[in-house]
Amino acid sequence: MQSVAHLNDHRRAGVTDPTGTEQWLRNAAAGVLAGNWLGSSTVPSRGLYPHQWSWDSAFIALGLRHLSPERARLELRTLFEAQWADGRVPHIVFNPATPAEAYFPGPAFWQAGQTSGIVQPPVHALAVWEVYRANPDTDFLKAMYPKLAAWHEYLRSRRDLGGRGLVSIVHPWESGMDNSPAWDGPLSRVRPIDPAEFVRRDLEHGDAADRPTDDDYGRYVRLAAGYRDLGYDDSHWTSFADAFAVEDPGFNALFAAAEHVMAEIATELGLPGKAAGHRAHAARITQALVSTLWDAEAGFFFPRDALLGELVPRFTCAGLLPLLLADLPVAEELLRTATGPRFGLGVALGVPSYDLTAADFDAAKYWRGPSWFNVGWLVHRGLLAHGELAHARRLRSDLLDSAWRNDFAEYTDPLAGAGHGARAFSWTAALTVDLLSSTT
Ligand code: SER
Repeated sequence: MQSVAHLNDHRRAGVTDPTGTEQWLRNAAAGVLAGNWLGSSTVPSRGLYPHQWSWDSAFIALGLRHLSPERARLELRTLFEAQWADGRVPHIVFNPATPAEAYFPGPAFWQAGQTSGIVQPPVHALAVWEVYRANPDTDFLKAMYPKLAAWHEYLRSRRDLGGRGLVSIVHPWESGMDNSPAWDGPLSRVRPIDPAEFVRRDLEHGDAADRPTDDDYGRYVRLAAGYRDLGYDDSHWTSFADAFAVEDPGFNALFAAAEHVMAEIATELGLPGKAAGHRAHAARITQALVSTLWDAEAGFFFPRDALLGELVPRFTCAGLLPLLLADLPVAEELLRTATGPRFGLGVALGVPSYDLTAADFDAAKYWRGPSWFNVGWLVHRGLLAHGELAHARRLRSDLLDSAWRNDFAEYTDPLAGAGHGARAFSWTAALTVDLLSSTT
């Protein structure tokens, strides 16, 4: 198979898809999404993740909108049917037909019906809006708007555990970046549950060297069980002995971006007062991001341990996501860090999840170095928001090339380009379709 890299030379020369390779890639990606479709939602991966995941579904819908707007809408509607009365959108919606032993921790662990009890980053407003823009269905937009508003209200009213106008995540899984080195410090205060007390199912589908350690898992399970035993009540969380509460720049940047999108949705629905409210929320989150998480000397956004009141000075890809905000006052400085040696934008393949210069950078281990397709897609969008066309074009080309060469891998080595984790991974396929459907 030839690489698609050469196609980008043709694109630059004004020649579109001269060999049909892009069409081949689009068809292959559509095949992955068809293979992972359950009838009303899509699994991220048949083996490793055999249920519906919250932020995965949003990314999947962003790709599905180009293939089948009806399926894209159904994907999102299915997720929001599982929304809790308090507004939270659970990070997993369990498929009752999947055998219990296929995934841990399953519904018996969470004791929350057919869902988990934690959340994932709020990328859903963006997905709803882009699905609508691809195929305007006002009934869909009208039905989704109050659900999205309730979801955001949950985050705003129940999750500002640090009192700074930022959402705190209460579990590393809520960031979507499970074993990010940024969580090591806060997680070190959580006592791990003995790995003999549970059976990991992820290792049946992935190389143990690439996955989080047993010690990480013991802490993940302690946190999830503690939150469960408190009835998922956020108001008591910070008094839990093993609590974890971190203001993540990635989660909060996505939240601010989502509020900007909510303003667009409200405007489209003829609700100018609501639109103004959403713009005000977006401005407040952006302001809080800069005043609380921005380290001017480092030129970077760091997470803040809300329990200690201290920044966690680790350079992870979450700190690049504020680039999504077109009105970010420190965009120039952040772009300088992105293109510097730590992330090597324009040199590395995709966007490394962790500082390339760090002693503990690991090119293969889950969120401790590899490039992830969704992060690359988000940063690509951020580069466009700041008029960085050359970098955006290069990143798009890398991402498509990687999808092609690595069979839509879950994550890839940012230096050597090799694929890791699951193959035929849904968001890699979906966002490939999206990139193919847009030009830089
Ligand atoms: N990504 C975590 C897992 O391994 C939680 O969703 O299941």
